[in-house]
Amino acid sequence: MSVERLKEVREAFLRDLDAAGADTDAIEKVRIQYAGRKSGLLQELTAVLKQLPNDQKREYGAALNDLKKAVAAALDEAKKRGASAGVGDKTSGVDITLPGRRRSRGAEHPVHLVRKRIESIFLRMGYTVEDGPEVEDDWHNFEALNLPPDHPARDDQDTFYLTGGSLLRTHTSPVQTRVMERQKPPIRIIVPGRVYRRDSDLRHSPMFHQIEGLVVDEGITFGHLKATLETFLRALFSDRVEVQFRPSYFPFTEPSAEVDITCIFCEGSGCGVCSNSGWIEILGSGMVDPRVFAKVGVDADRYTGFAFGLGLDRVAMLQYGIPDLRQMFAGDQRLTRQFE
Ligand code: PHE
Repeated sequence: MSVERLKEVREAFLRDLDAAGADTDAIEKVRIQYAGRKSGLLQELTAVLKQLPNDQKREYGAALNDLKKAVAAALDEAKKRGASAGVGDKTSGVDITLPGRRRSRGAEHPVHLVRKRIESIFLRMGYTVEDGPEVEDDWHNFEALNLPPDHPARDDQDTFYLTGGSLLRTHTSPVQTRVMERQKPPIRIIVPGRVYRRDSDLRHSPMFHQIEGLVVDEGITFGHLKATLETFLRALFSDRVEVQFRPSYFPFTEPSAEVDITCIFCEGSGCGVCSNSGWIEILGSGMVDPRVFAKVGVDADRYTGFAFGLGLDRVAMLQYGIPDLRQMFAGDQRLTRQFE
């Protein structure tokens, strides 16, 4: 045995390891063959050392140590190669280089976003949020709101009637009558909810959303109505909007007013959205008609009140530039995803 033999072993080892490439099993075999603890070649070569004549021990020992280090280093390298080759290897079962599966996050619907904003404005002003049934009776939706049986708003064209005399509420106003029937003034509520009308085009959908407001107390005047709605509309849209009250008619309010804001797109100078008028109609309002108070049992000599109603969908369309109302209820995620 000589240093020559060590050289041969080194060459054979490097050749075998090279042949193993990045195959971790093959590398392991090479390791066992050369550096295995029990019967590896290096073990044998170490045993030889003891039998050598003293004058050869020194040279052989040094060369053997050298070889051991080289083998260990080369095996380390090879193992690393094997480990990184295993990544991305589809046959190993798990491919950790594939992109992760994306978990889709839900998005809040634009109408819901608008509702939350409006609610928070009125909650700050001391209002509470009320709720009522979508399947209504004639009394609360019409009769108690001073809509006599021959009123055009009761036309079959507008109302979805259900069997047994109930109907799908055509506005959120029936919750006014429900709350006044069961609660003594002071009343200060807003009522968001779904409403239904037999109508469908760019600006109408058979189901849409309204938010109703009602304030009843002693000494409530039109001034309170005006200041409240101005404050609300400026908080919702912008400090810069001007608010305009136009005389109007609703059976359940007297006097009544429709409320416009200066167009939020052209700021009043005229554009496509406001049909060049500079104004956008945004809500209906008025002082609660004493006849309504009489129907629901509120003392009209003692109390006055105001009410208003607006379309949430319309506000969402304006704020987010959605051109077709029906798009909002089509369930198309390309719309809702934009609100993530
Ligand atoms: N309910 C009315 C509508 O749907 C809006 C409104 C509510 C008007 C309250 C006045 C007072 O058009």
